[in-house]
Amino acid sequence: MSSSRKRVAILISGRGSNMRSLIEAAEDADFPAEIALVLSNRPDAGGLAVAQEAGIATAVVDHKAYPKDRAGFDAAVDEVLREAEIELVCLAGFMRLLTPGFVEGWRDRMINIHPSLLPLFPGLHTHERAIEAGMRLAGCTVHYVRPEMDSGPIIAQASVPIAFDDTPETLAKRVLTVEHEIYPLALALVAAGLARVENERLVIDPSLPLDTTDMLIAPSFGG
Ligand code: GAR
Repeated sequence: MSSSRKRVAILISGRGSNMRSLIEAAEDADFPAEIALVLSNRPDAGGLAVAQEAGIATAVVDHKAYPKDRAGFDAAVDEVLREAEIELVCLAGFMRLLTPGFVEGWRDRMINIHPSLLPLFPGLHTHERAIEAGMRLAGCTVHYVRPEMDSGPIIAQASVPIAFDDTPETLAKRVLTVEHEIYPLALALVAAGLARVENERLVIDPSLPLDTTDMLIAPSFGG
C-alpha cells in the first residue's frame, strides 16, 4: 500500500486538532494517504509546531501579504501545493474563503470539515446558532469543496446530542470529538478511491463492508 499512498496537504489557520487526527491516522502504514505538507495562512497557527514535531514539512502563505488580492493568495498556495506534488487537499479549520478558480482547480480533490450537519448552519458561530434554533442534535460534516462556502457533496457526517445546559463551548468540544473520528475515515475513503462524486452526490464503492458504510451515518453518539 505504501508506494501508492496519496500525497496530502492539510491547510490550517489555527490549533490544528483535526490536522493532528489526520496525521495520527496516516502514521499507520496501511492508511491510503501520507501527510506530505501542512500549510497555514497564519504564521502563528499553533498547528504548525505540531506538524513540525511530527516531522512533516510546513509552509506559510500569509494572507496579509495579499491585501484585497484573493486570487493572488490562492495562486501562491496553489504553487506551493503543486511544487510539493500534492494530490489531495484537506481543509482543517482553514478560515479563508477560496476563489472559484482555485476550488475548480482542485475539484473532487479537496475536502473540508465543518462543525455542523450541513446543509444546516454553514459559516461561522455554528454551535451558537444550533443552540439558539433549539436543535436537539448537532454534528459535523466532511464534504468535497465547491465554490459556495461550506457546500459540496457530503462524504461523512456524525451527530451528537445537544444538552439543555450546553453552551457553544461545551457543544463545540463534544462535536470536535466526532470530527476527529470522521475526518480520517473520509480521507481514507477518498484517498483509497472508494469514494467518488456522481451527479453531485457521493457514491461509495460497493466492495466496502457494510459496517464501514454504517459509520458514515453515525460513528458516535457519545456525550
Ligand atoms: C473545527 O471545529 C472545524 O470543523 C472548524 O474549525 C475548527 C478547527 O479546529 N471549521 C470550520 O468552521 C470551517 N467552516 P482545529 O484547528 O482544532 O481542527
